[in-house]
Amino acid sequence: MDPKLKQAIDQRDWFYRFELPDGSTTRSYLPESAEQVHDTRLRMMQQALEPLRAQPEQFSVLDLASHQGWFSLQAAALGFAPVTGLEPRASHIADARLMAEAVGAGQVRFVQSDIEHIGGTDIEPADVVLMLGLLYHLENPVAAIRTAHAYCKRLCLIETQVGPHLSGMLDWGSYEFVRPIQGCFTVIDETEETHGNEASTEGICLAPSAETLLWIMRKVGFVDVGLVAPPADGYEQHRHGKRVLAVGHMP
Ligand SMILES: C[S@@+](CC[C@H](N)C(=O)[O-])C[C@H]1O[C@@H](n2cnc3c(N)ncnc32)[C@H](O)[C@@H]1O
Repeated sequence: MDPKLKQAIDQRDWFYRFELPDGSTTRSYLPESAEQVHDTRLRMMQQALEPLRAQPEQFSVLDLASHQGWFSLQAAALGFAPVTGLEPRASHIADARLMAEAVGAGQVRFVQSDIEHIGGTDIEPADVVLMLGLLYHLENPVAAIRTAHAYCKRLCLIETQVGPHLSGMLDWGSYEFVRPIQGCFTVIDETEETHGNEASTEGICLAPSAETLLWIMRKVGFVDVGLVAPPADGYEQHRHGKRVLAVGHMP
């Protein structure tokens, strides 16, 4: 491994624990209590991608919100190709490219843009779309799920924090015109944190309930939609259903 790359990587902490070719691992700036979130999501992603893993080189991957590229590089390490990461923050793009170079992942590229403007990039639909840790940072989550569907050729994974669910009937103009509630969103304020590495870029965030996420995924056209079961020893948020990984397929 190029000593200059190694030096650039070692001089700071990262969001993820990257395994480097020299056998070392990067330090993570996440508190120890939260570090398990990545490993659990990776295991759930591997489980969901199992049907494609016999010949992964035949399947392309689009990683929406690729951050420092960890999930893109994990997909590449599983053999998927090509892999494209989309990420609005310039510093993350630079970090992801540095990491891809360090691990020699030539089949991975990173494009600086956001999901709302993906149409202005040269990104093409991919067999697998990953949308991990993004949905609950967006003010237009339904549009984002539609975009994930529009760019998906086979299988889409959406991992998100979820809020409480509400069901029942709602008066819709009159008590005579009641409608069943299909789902609900929780609104969270990140307007003071838009500078943050992991935060929303706009600040107004809508987190769906798990049932709402599944309902919207079906409505935009995914089939065989469901939740991936978390591992029994996984991160507490996944074990307790506070974060979920949903999978949807193209018809
Ligand atoms: C919590 S991090 C998740 C990163 C990675 N996908 C993961 O699951 O570990 C949220 C990421 O979404 C990116 N992001 C924020 N707003 C976005 C948008 N509108 N479109 C695409 N990415 C966005 C952030 O820059 C950040 O990298």
